Amino acid sequence: MTVLAPIRRRLRTLRRATLVVALAGVAVWIRPPDADGSTDGQTVRFAEVAPIVEQRCATCHSGSSAPNGARLETPEEIAAQAAAIERVAVLTKVMPLGNATGMTDEERELLGRWIREGASTE
Ligand code: HEC
Repeated sequence: MTVLAPIRRRLRTLRRATLVVALAGVAVWIRPPDADGSTDGQTVRFAEVAPIVEQRCATCHSGSSAPNGARLETPEEIAAQAAAIERVAVLTKVMPLGNATGMTDEERELLGRWIREGASTE
């Protein structure tokens, strides 16, 4: 009995931890899809995307010194780079470089939705 007591205690703690993790999982699973504001059924408009790219990307990606010649100033430039933007700012998150401009995950998600919806500049 005395030998088993610490093991029992540890098992109880383990079971409690498992329950907490399971409950957290259920909470995420049953969460309404628009709880994070990302899937409100509305198409992302370019007007929402442009200020993000301007603030988070154009600081570096403008003018003749734009890295790799990747300028992100005009709607045409942004739309033309949609696939590259998705790759570096949504999927791998290597951009903004060192996240120097403080891009948020919400902004990345919004950019990603805009690109998946066809990257329209309307
Ligand atoms: C602090 C400056 C800075 C910011 C801000 C920045 N970038 Fe970059 N970006 C760079 C540099 C430097 C490179 C070149 C890196 C390299 O070639 O390894 C680059 C390269 C790129 C490339 C080309 C990558 C390739 O594989 O050819 C793309 C596309 C890009 N950035 C998109 C973005 C987007 C989208 C944002 C905003 C979300 C952004 N960048 C913000 C500095 C920045």
